Amino acid sequence: MKVTKAIFPVAGLGTRFLPATKANPKEMMPVVDKPLIQYAVEEAVAAGITELIFVTNSSKRAIEDHFDSNYELESNLFERGKYDLLENVRNILPEGVSCAYIRQRSPQGLGHAVLCAKQFVKNEPFAVLLADDLIDGGQTSCLQQMIDVFELNQTSLIAVQKIPSSETKKYGIVDVPSETDPVAKIQGIVEKPDASNAPSNLGVVGRYILTPQIFTLLENTSKGSGGEIQLTDAIQKLLNLESVHALQFKGKRYDCGSKLGYLEATLAYALKHHELAHDFKNFLREFVVCLE
Ligand code: UTP
Repeated sequence: MKVTKAIFPVAGLGTRFLPATKANPKEMMPVVDKPLIQYAVEEAVAAGITELIFVTNSSKRAIEDHFDSNYELESNLFERGKYDLLENVRNILPEGVSCAYIRQRSPQGLGHAVLCAKQFVKNEPFAVLLADDLIDGGQTSCLQQMIDVFELNQTSLIAVQKIPSSETKKYGIVDVPSETDPVAKIQGIVEKPDASNAPSNLGVVGRYILTPQIFTLLENTSKGSGGEIQLTDAIQKLLNLESVHALQFKGKRYDCGSKLGYLEATLAYALKHHELAHDFKNFLREFVVCLE
């Protein structure tokens, strides 16, 4: 089966970025000139996703507006002859890609957010992308790498990366037979373990391809770590029913849910931005000299 639907859970509170996220969604924070959610959507669309399902809440209307037409802005740009900018805002979503929005009434966790999208996914495998994990996969995006593997194996697949032992408490950690295989069958998964209990150093990052069996399991998953319904706990149950694989993707991931990760992403993306790269590099050179 092909993966054509993607869920974007965007209903979290973004507390690590308060007060910036008090009235503005974390997913609308720009990295250079595009909001985080647009990078995730572009990654999905380029990988062949045609149905985008956003799990939102009442303070995330800006996300719906971003992917909708803005007639006033478009006619203003047209009248002023700013055709490049007009194309830019009109082409945020290409033809043939549709959006659906569903509200998560309270932030009960990532697992609960994914379950909210069940009615749109129905009985198909689907992708989940967390926009705050910005991943530069170079030529082949992280989701494209995952879809390539899924098309061979037809099993659920989780993106993972090596993390230091001191950080296991921040991640879902997978148990695999070998940490060196790029694609490995998962034997177990645990949410935010202490380093002493972590089954490996492979941490889950925000890209998943899941089979629809996960919904029934989520419906029967009670609150776990942090008092939230954890996707990780439902995946642990899925392992009893079918194979689930972990992919150590190629690329650089920026944790834009954290301030440091967000700053690193901004710097890296500015350094490869077609308009800014040259001047920004010069600025940085001078800036680094001042630091020494
Ligand atoms: P995070 O825990 O990283 O995001 O959830 P958060 O809760 O918004 O941020 P902090 O920790 O308070 O700073 C990972 C992803 O899952 C979504 C978030 O929007 C984010 O994209 N999420 C999380 C939901 O949609 N609903 C939830 O109940 C929890």
